[in-house]
Amino acid sequence: MGSYVPSRRLTNSDLEKLVETSDEWITSRTGIKERRICGENEAASDMAVAAAQRALESSGLKPEDIDLLLVGTVTPDFRLPSQACMVQKKLGMVNAAAMDIVAACAGFLHGLATADAYIKAGQFKRVMVIGVEKLSSITDYTDRNTCVLFGDGAGAAVVVASDEERGIISTFLKSDGRYGELLWIPDGGTERPLQSLNGQGRVYLEMNGSEVFKHAVRQMVEASEKVIKEAGLTPADVTLMVPHQANIRIIQSTAKRLAISMEKVYLNIDKVGNTSSASVPIALDEVIKSGRVKRDDIILMTAFGGGLTWASALIKW
Ligand code: COA
Repeated sequence: MGSYVPSRRLTNSDLEKLVETSDEWITSRTGIKERRICGENEAASDMAVAAAQRALESSGLKPEDIDLLLVGTVTPDFRLPSQACMVQKKLGMVNAAAMDIVAACAGFLHGLATADAYIKAGQFKRVMVIGVEKLSSITDYTDRNTCVLFGDGAGAAVVVASDEERGIISTFLKSDGRYGELLWIPDGGTERPLQSLNGQGRVYLEMNGSEVFKHAVRQMVEASEKVIKEAGLTPADVTLMVPHQANIRIIQSTAKRLAISMEKVYLNIDKVGNTSSASVPIALDEVIKSGRVKRDDIILMTAFGGGLTWASALIKW
């Protein structure tokens, strides 16, 4: 694992100067105290490269050893080429196939499940999965409903074929496109191209927060139950839960419904906010580096996001 967050902090008191809000409201409704925001010349691919280099270092592999690069993101540097190709170029990952996965906040877990399936199918042996987001580039800092939630960052994992009975045990992916408009960017795609909107396009992320909240809890519970059951385990067997860091209340409700105590849940939402695709891998990297994870621990990861999409993965460390 490896991760990277920009050094610039955007605190709740900074946001009080931008919109009508308060540290008390943001903290009590979301659990977020601050988020990290990219510097002026920092692209999403730069964060992805920094996280990837750290993951390669901890795996002992070189860029040329990777045969598949999967990048989960909704904030690529360019619409074309893909973010994965940008990252491949910057890393010199010359032997890899590279592609993006667009599943919003569930993007990293979609990548992990894809890596697992390709490895099991024998098509690739050493896969890098990255979740990276520069959400500050699609956040409207005049909209208090959204701007208090989001931050920037990247996380990366190296997944390798192995005969050992550890690693990814089970994964679950699901989506429901009927709810796409609950969390979306309305304009700038091919349906409503910016060129046809005379500068009036809605190019920032828009969200129906309370509806997303309800789906989030239901979906993360469903996805978690599926991977635990498929592994022949029960929630009591889970040593550590690493959920998507969207809202502390969503995490608490999900853990409660799964009967997993909050002591088993890793949280960094107060420091980084919601970093979408990057959220789960940043949290996983942090908790591993903290020394809290022991051999044979069962780690449950779960996420939900725009699309709507939701996913879980269970790993034995
Ligand atoms: N500061 C102060 N007040 C705010 C505010 C802010 N930053 N944002 C919203 N409010 C206001 C609303 O305007 C509303 O006021 P009103 O009653 O006068 O209309 C009031 O607070 C309550 O809004 P509501 O939407 O009911 O609050 P909530 O308890 O649902 O919390 C969210 C709002 C966004 C924090 C919460 O719905 C949420 O986290 N949803 C999920 C979002 C998410 O995770 N998205 C990413 C998916 S990956």
